Amino acid sequence: MNITIFGTGYVGLVTGTCLADAGHDVICVDVDAAKIEGLKRGVIPIYEPGLEPLVKRNTAEGRLRFTTDAVEAVAFGTLQFIAVGTPPDEDGSADLQYVLAVARTIATNMNDYKVVVDKSTVPVGTADKVHAAMTAVLAERGAAIEFDVCSNPEFLKEGAAIEDFSKPARIVIGTDSERVEKLMRECYAPFNRNHDKMIVMDVRSAELTKYAANAMLATKISFMNEIANLAERLGADIEAVRIGIGSDPRIGYHFIYPGAGYGGSCFPKDVQALARTASQVGYEAVLLNAVEEVNEAQKQTLFTKLEKALGTVAGKTIAVWGLSFKPETDDMRAAPSRVLIEAVLAAGGKVQGFDPQAMEEAARIFGERDDLRLVASREDAVSGADALVICTEWKNFRAVDFAWLKSQLNDAVVVDGRNLYDPEQVAAAGLQYWAIGRGNSIL
Ligand SMILES: NC(=O)c1ccc[n+]([C@@H]2O[C@H](COP(=O)([O-])OP(=O)(O)OC[C@H]3O[C@@H](n4cnc5c(N)ncnc54)[C@H](O)[C@@H]3O)[C@@H](O)[C@H]2O)c1
Repeated sequence: MNITIFGTGYVGLVTGTCLADAGHDVICVDVDAAKIEGLKRGVIPIYEPGLEPLVKRNTAEGRLRFTTDAVEAVAFGTLQFIAVGTPPDEDGSADLQYVLAVARTIATNMNDYKVVVDKSTVPVGTADKVHAAMTAVLAERGAAIEFDVCSNPEFLKEGAAIEDFSKPARIVIGTDSERVEKLMRECYAPFNRNHDKMIVMDVRSAELTKYAANAMLATKISFMNEIANLAERLGADIEAVRIGIGSDPRIGYHFIYPGAGYGGSCFPKDVQALARTASQVGYEAVLLNAVEEVNEAQKQTLFTKLEKALGTVAGKTIAVWGLSFKPETDDMRAAPSRVLIEAVLAAGGKVQGFDPQAMEEAARIFGERDDLRLVASREDAVSGADALVICTEWKNFRAVDFAWLKSQLNDAVVVDGRNLYDPEQVAAAGLQYWAIGRGNSIL
């Protein structure tokens, strides 16, 4: 099939690349000319494991192209995917300006039947808005061209995006049109061979499914963080509790890790946007608001522990391991590390930060400043520092020689936002270990 993808970010680039790799012909279009120029030269704008060789191979074999030319892009595919950002508006609701801009671009340039596929995470009712925006443009043009709008939310995880897209747990399609369903089945057939993963439903339910999925995952995290905070105050160990509850098959072990709060480009904004949608229809989403509130508080917890451990952060040098919001990505959107670093700097401390992939992104976010050094290794980060804070559970932070670490840190303080270590081992090396929900952490 000929397929057009609007938006060449985490979702659009992965979607376009995986569809091309399955044999479709794909054009990816973006308004960011520098990004498109880079992609044409083989420069991948994000870190995503396995993405670079796939982009290069499919570009070389001619199935994947990049352009800023919307006229060419709209003419190309019968399926026109929208995979642009839906950032939070001032009041927390999803900002649809980019989605609607693409809808108008498609309507302005189309000359034959198109299916507009909403892959961006969009509030319930957005397909209607896309439809209305396109109808208005076509009316202005005096053009009677048929089109359909369907919802196809994306569930990929950054860091495992290729795997998630290529072997999806489910492919949700929101449409009531047989013609659209047939085209979407053809598009996804290469990923749907083992058993039928396609779940077809009405558009509104598909739109809500994406928010419900993210809200459920965020709820699990906030729930565990709340129990971890209780464990700290009750002298219990959340890691024992986690295993104790995970063994119940109704609960399960997945996604019940306590930590420094969820971040990233999706959970924070999607929980907020769903709560906002609720209030717009006169329903107060008590649980969703609490999930968000617990998370905001949890993001402060690393700094609170640090201050308790050191007395004051002013004048101290804090090593930070992990800047991305989770491992295997360079994405720092809403990352807990940002909250910690900003608090340390505001309190008059200095930071020596290291991340295996997010160094460029960190430099872009924080800019040049005397009190923040972005260094080349975890060793450089702790060299001459007073305390260490672990924000992200990258694999290469897991094994540490604690005697060596003790020799590096003047105040012998480790604040671990991801519970990576055995508290007894860390303590045996003479380090103070402040983890999440592990009994002694608020002493
Ligand atoms: N990142 C994830 O893990 C993830 C997972 C599932 C769903 N989503 C959802 O997918 C959507 C995209 O997220 P993302 O992380 O890929 O965003 P992103 O910010 O990485 O990429 C968005 C891209 O869209 C481009 N763009 C903006 N306006 C455009 C226009 N008019 N025409 C063409 N391109 C345009 C931007 O230049 C940018 O390159 C969001 O709604 C997000 O909630 C994201």
